[in-house]
Amino acid sequence: MKIRKAVFPVAGLGTRVLPATKAMPKEMLTIVDKPLIQYVVDEAREAGIEHFVFVTGRNKGVIEDHFDRMFELDATLEARGKKAEQDILARDQPDAGAMSFTRQQAPLGLGHAVWCARDVVGDEPFAVLLPDELVLNTPGCLAQMIEAAAKLPDKSNLIAVQEVPADQTHQYGICGIGKRLAQRGVFEVASMVEKPPKGTAPSNLSITGRYILQPEIFRILQTQERGAGGEIQLTDAMIGLSKSQTFYGVEFEGERHDCGSKAGFLRANIAYGMARADLRDGLREEMRKYLEQ
Ligand code: UTP
Repeated sequence: MKIRKAVFPVAGLGTRVLPATKAMPKEMLTIVDKPLIQYVVDEAREAGIEHFVFVTGRNKGVIEDHFDRMFELDATLEARGKKAEQDILARDQPDAGAMSFTRQQAPLGLGHAVWCARDVVGDEPFAVLLPDELVLNTPGCLAQMIEAAAKLPDKSNLIAVQEVPADQTHQYGICGIGKRLAQRGVFEVASMVEKPPKGTAPSNLSITGRYILQPEIFRILQTQERGAGGEIQLTDAMIGLSKSQTFYGVEFEGERHDCGSKAGFLRANIAYGMARADLRDGLREEMRKYLEQ
């Protein structure tokens, strides 16, 4: 199963981090020195993705600009001999023609956003990466999933899963664990449920923001009713697809950060800052000062 395309839904409103997202897309919030969207595009590139599909909406034009060449900036850096900065800009850009931008005119939910990518994806399996969830690890989360997918039958669907504390399962999409495979950390998904009421979750493995899906999901999304929160939920469509195709859970290696919440965003900045050799010592010193206050 070859996964060539990845979908990045970036049309949401980001209400949990207002007012930061009033005029700026949540996906452009910065972790250390890169916007969130750059991290997930880099993760997809590392996993071998060849085409990057962005589902955008109003106020999201700056995401498209971020992946464009800035001639004036380039020329100024060139004139000032700032080669290292020029290299960073060149490094972060996918190849010309390797990106598509499609539009979700109203934020009707993640499932609807994925459905908006149907024509660009076409009839082949594809990855979905949610830019507000980062996984700090090498290899990245999607690379681990693609490695797992290579050993599974065609027409398999994969979801990245990670343990959450048992008393928090009601805040997440949770999956039930079926047969475990010989591949470490891979199992057949027995059930999926979005935000189960307290005490009813089939496990404490939450569905995280990385998926490998078969194109048949689009047919289901086409008629998917609104679910939790009045939104068209991807999890509901996956439950529909699981009646005819197998879903596998992949317990990936790495630390997951929910950058769509204020606390998660701050934590991610500390974690990614501490992972940087050029920043670690100074950051540790600064944090020590605050902890002593
Ligand atoms: P979230 O639910 O985390 O994002 O969706 P949100 O709706 O923007 O955030 P809050 O809850 O209001 O704070 C995960 C990803 O799916 C995209 C978002 O942009 C985000 O990257 N999304 C969500 C869409 O593209 N369209 C939607 O209708 C909903």
